[in-house]
Amino acid sequence: MSEPGTTIELERPLPPGSRIGILGGGQLGRMLAMAAARLGFHCHIYSDIAAPPAAQVSERLTVGGYDDLEALAAFADNVDVITYEFENVPVTAAAHLSAHRPVSPPPRALAVAQDRLTEKDFISGLSIAVAPYSNIDGTEPLPASIDDLLPGIIKTRRLGYDGKGQIPVMTRGDLEAACRSLSGSPLILEQKIDFAFEVSILVARGADGTLAFYDIPRNEHRGGILRRSTVTDEIVTPDVAAQARVIGQRIAEALDYVGVLAVELFVEAEGKIPSLRVNEIAPRVHNSGHWTMDACATDQFENHIRAICRWPLGPTTRRQDIEMVNLIGDDVSRWPEIASDGEAKLHLYGKDEAREGRKMGHVNRVIPRAGSA
Ligand SMILES: Nc1ncnc2c1ncn2[C@@H]1O[C@H](COP(=O)(O)OP(=O)(O)O)[C@@H](O)[C@H]1O
Ligand SMILES: [Mg+2]
Repeated sequence: MSEPGTTIELERPLPPGSRIGILGGGQLGRMLAMAAARLGFHCHIYSDIAAPPAAQVSERLTVGGYDDLEALAAFADNVDVITYEFENVPVTAAAHLSAHRPVSPPPRALAVAQDRLTEKDFISGLSIAVAPYSNIDGTEPLPASIDDLLPGIIKTRRLGYDGKGQIPVMTRGDLEAACRSLSGSPLILEQKIDFAFEVSILVARGADGTLAFYDIPRNEHRGGILRRSTVTDEIVTPDVAAQARVIGQRIAEALDYVGVLAVELFVEAEGKIPSLRVNEIAPRVHNSGHWTMDACATDQFENHIRAICRWPLGPTTRRQDIEMVNLIGDDVSRWPEIASDGEAKLHLYGKDEAREGRKMGHVNRVIPRAGSA
């Protein structure tokens, strides 16, 4: 074993037949494992829940806590490289693992993305625009300057996803009530951005620093959960796309990132030229990139696997206009209808219980181009 604090990197491309460890067993882990299997790799899932969706398509599963250093070390000993499919893997676990095996993306990306305050400090530190924000440190009374951020959204700094742990606030009274109802968790207040629409940029960065960008989807949310991503040539102008790529590149390079990184962006159409503001980053493959599975030469999952295994990235070229719709909760009961629609490509995650708000699958549909029959 190497010295504490040192990290290990792959020196050459990992050959097919090697073993990839994935922390987390949800649908993203499942789709990563399927992409890895296509390239001849074996996957070992580490999850804190029994029978997670990713384990159905992987060779091995370890069920253990993310604080169980012994179980994590045994998992590391059984794999050649480690990645993760969700950003709430404790940084201590990722750092512990990186003393045993190469871990990509770098644990620092987790540390930055796990806390909305650290994340905003980091991104604004790169001179990239974010929503104006303030840490709410729990001491009363709230300073007068906080009123400048209203109307706003109060968010828990950690562990929020799919709009959970967020309360819109119009007035100081709302803010005080929201702070009380979320008390106990560190909070951040963000100004509510009056955006025209939301997009994201997905960047793949190889171990040698090579970058590849996917086309930019427009993302629509319902109840805080991504509902639809649409990708056509008309979503953003070439200028805005170039701006988004620069943002993605600067964040990926500042983190010395290896793998696929998603950056969620607000597009503001105030002036003549639309401008971009970063909402948040995800140091992993992302729901707004699921359309790549049926529209791109190499999808986001395969490029993530290629990057972490020190392979060359595959081309991200998009072959067609496409729309991805999430199947959330009961939506999944429409599977027979979707399955009989020849234009629809159905992806189901193998989850047995269609609870409200739970992502059960998604459907990709090619959008016919104007002029084509
Ligand atoms: N500052 C903001 N201004 C306007 N809308 C916001 C803001 N923050 C979040 N939202 C809306 O809520 C959605 C979810 O918020 P986000 O911070 O991305 O959390 P999550 O981790 O749940 O995805 C965003 O995609 C956007 O639609
Ligand atoms: Mg988000």
